[in-house]
Amino acid sequence: MANILLQPLNESVEAEKDSRLLDALLAKDCPVMMACGGQAICATCHCYVEEGAENLNPISDREKRTLALITGATSKSRLSCQTRITGTGDVTVLLPEGLYIESADDLEELIGQRTKAPIRHPADGSILIARGKIITRSRIMELQGTDLSLLSLEEDDS
Ligand code: FES
Repeated sequence: MANILLQPLNESVEAEKDSRLLDALLAKDCPVMMACGGQAICATCHCYVEEGAENLNPISDREKRTLALITGATSKSRLSCQTRITGTGDVTVLLPEGLYIESADDLEELIGQRTKAPIRHPADGSILIARGKIITRSRIMELQGTDLSLLSLEEDDS
């Protein structure tokens, strides 16, 4: 068992050896969209391992390729669906701020409201609407012309 500390939630969860880091996030009801279904081709399970990386499996080439395309990725970045617990020490994970959307229509109910967190692209994690901006119908219409699919990352995986 390893102890996973999730920040900025400041919540801990015990994780079994060989379980995925993603499972620890889901156990704490973190809103992980898993847009690609755990195939290492999206940004929606991206996180930063702040401490305890030695208790995790090494990063794979496939994971590296996807992380190279994600906005805001650093040397601490991992895809939680590809990250397995291998040790018993503490691991500190920082979750990127933001809400991922698969379609501009996902924002319809939020028209007229200020975003409490950045709205992010599911494939590359880029910020489509910054925190504090008002979601307008015209902005949604602009986003309807944006490719929010995972195709661009899948093509790079060939
Ligand atoms: S769920 Fe898509 S990369 Fe992990």
